[in-house]
Amino acid sequence: MKRLSAQAFTILAILSSCAQKPADNAISVCSPDRRICVETGVTEAGQPWYSVNVDGKAFIDKSLLGLEADSLNLKDGFQITKVQTAHTDKKWTQPWGENKTLRNRNRELAVSMENSQDVALLLRFRVFDDGIGLRYEYQIPDGAVQSDSLGSALIIDELTQFAIADDGTSWSIPANFDSYEQEYRTMPLSELQDANTPMTFKTSGGVYGSIHEAALVDFPEMTLKAQDGTLTAALCPDGPGNLRQKAIVPATFQTPWRTIQIGRKAIDLINSSLILNLNEPCRLRRTSWIKPCKYVGVWWGMHLGLYSWGKDNRHGATTKRAMEYIDFAADNNIDAVLFEGWNDGWTVAYADHDFDFTRPAKDFDLDKVLKYAKQKGVDYIIHHETAGEVAWYEAQLEKDLDYARERGIHALKTGYAGWLLDGHYHHSQYGVRHYAKVVEECARREIMVDAHEPIKETGLRRTWPNFMTREGARGMEWNAWSKGNQPSHHEILPFTRLLSGPMDYTPGIFDILYKNIEGNPDVQVWNNVHSSECRVNTTLAKQIALWVVLYSPMQMAADLIENYKDHPAFQFFRDFNPDCDWSEALAGEIGEYVSIVRRAGGNYYLGAVTNEQSRTLIQPLTFLKKGKRYQADIYADADGCDWQTSPTDFNIEHVTVTSADVLTIKLAPGGGQAIVFKEL
Ligand code: NOJ
Ligand code: CA
Repeated sequence: MKRLSAQAFTILAILSSCAQKPADNAISVCSPDRRICVETGVTEAGQPWYSVNVDGKAFIDKSLLGLEADSLNLKDGFQITKVQTAHTDKKWTQPWGENKTLRNRNRELAVSMENSQDVALLLRFRVFDDGIGLRYEYQIPDGAVQSDSLGSALIIDELTQFAIADDGTSWSIPANFDSYEQEYRTMPLSELQDANTPMTFKTSGGVYGSIHEAALVDFPEMTLKAQDGTLTAALCPDGPGNLRQKAIVPATFQTPWRTIQIGRKAIDLINSSLILNLNEPCRLRRTSWIKPCKYVGVWWGMHLGLYSWGKDNRHGATTKRAMEYIDFAADNNIDAVLFEGWNDGWTVAYADHDFDFTRPAKDFDLDKVLKYAKQKGVDYIIHHETAGEVAWYEAQLEKDLDYARERGIHALKTGYAGWLLDGHYHHSQYGVRHYAKVVEECARREIMVDAHEPIKETGLRRTWPNFMTREGARGMEWNAWSKGNQPSHHEILPFTRLLSGPMDYTPGIFDILYKNIEGNPDVQVWNNVHSSECRVNTTLAKQIALWVVLYSPMQMAADLIENYKDHPAFQFFRDFNPDCDWSEALAGEIGEYVSIVRRAGGNYYLGAVTNEQSRTLIQPLTFLKKGKRYQADIYADADGCDWQTSPTDFNIEHVTVTSADVLTIKLAPGGGQAIVFKEL
């Protein structure tokens, strides 16, 4: 490729319509509303860099860019050869999501460069009103490729810096390459040594940001580490035995987008659609079979230690119990059921297994259960716990999925419990490839996926809308066998983990203190701590509100059905519609409180939750349709309710409201409130 002189490059930059101000040989591009501007260029050594301004103030200081490969220079010596700009303003729709219609409005800057090894790099920036994305698109010349017979290069490091200009507060989990099920930390940015993404922060200047990635395809996940005082990308290594290898890439490759969502209010981060906008459009021709659902199952019984997955007389997934759950689902407007432990190969000890996903357990007559579910109009979610044995699972995946498909099953929950996937880290390129393979094989058979111990979501649900939901953070299960998730966990999740996409948290435990299993001799320890030493660290009303706040297109009412039968508060879940059309975060501060409203059909669902602090939110109902009247069913913490002392005290109230009304939402310490607005 011919290199342009610095002068020619300057002229090109000036000529292009959006690239601005080539001072210092820097090129810049601003968001459509012009409040966020990115500058980029190359250093004297020819290494690319960028910086970000928000409202005219430095937000990300000059930060270096690039990748490092084994004996190939992907890092520096670059000269800019071409600068191109573009802008996009398009509405698009998705089959499901917090919002079914989204707007992709951004300005793009594509900077082409080449170094003395004839490595071509196209650095692509997209600047939106709600943040930025940047991506590397490399072309390595023939003959310069390294290592192996595949004609591919070995990536050993990523150099992207995020030099956040001001100090501030951050919310993140540690950069663990094998599990996202970590407690969130709130700490000064300047003290952050490492973090997984989304890593969310508020600067001392009052700007909110969240660093993550979009479209993570065939590459390891990106984490962050402090290096010489600057947060820098750190790619997940292949595994503990192969720490140097981060990725094997072909001669032409692109990385996932490195993203920074930016907001003036904390809730702007939740209302951002940047991650989805940076993903490729849907790859499926037909999506009518993909449907959000509500589900119940015996799952919580196992986590409490009341049932087992395995073969003893405490086996949870029996034909008889399945019939009861199907009846309950049919009677309570619940779409689907899930029975973990349905298959053969579980032993009493969870870890000691010999799974077979084509052979039901002896006391579980799958065909009979499926026939009954069909009669009752209830869907069945099949479960594959792989214990992280990915090679073994892939070898039989097609057979296992065919088995499900032939039986009319359209939904699968997977699990990868345990450390490492065949010796590779969960979040390595090996893992990323595996999770993608499962989703693609499922798509071929019209099966929706809910993955536990997953790779983090990076918006791939846009491209593969059968990838419905996943775990990828500490979910409800931790409350059954540990000190549990602290009250503020639920006010951090929407601003961190949930920015990446839906989460199968499995909320809705009504027996908060496990009173209904007290003294039951069947309850055994299976995972370190006996459930009698545990509890759920919220009020009951907060559990209801979490069905709205923690978005999942497959939403579980996780408690035992015995705890829902005849419980007046369960009416909320009966009325709840997980297939929402539109959502908006209304108010919130990270780790303190958040309230979110969603519209599904003619109804609205509002969830508000708080940390240990009680608080009162004044909420105008301007989101309701003007000129319409609604019955608001309010599920609230009772006066004097407190998550520590009286968590199950709640009230249900019914009032008629319009969009002109203002509600006073009172939240107890560790409490919440959920409201259904039904159009009259
Ligand atoms: C961990 C998953 O998160 C949980 O949902 C599941 O019940 C167990 N593994 C067993 O598969
Ligand atoms: Ca888990």
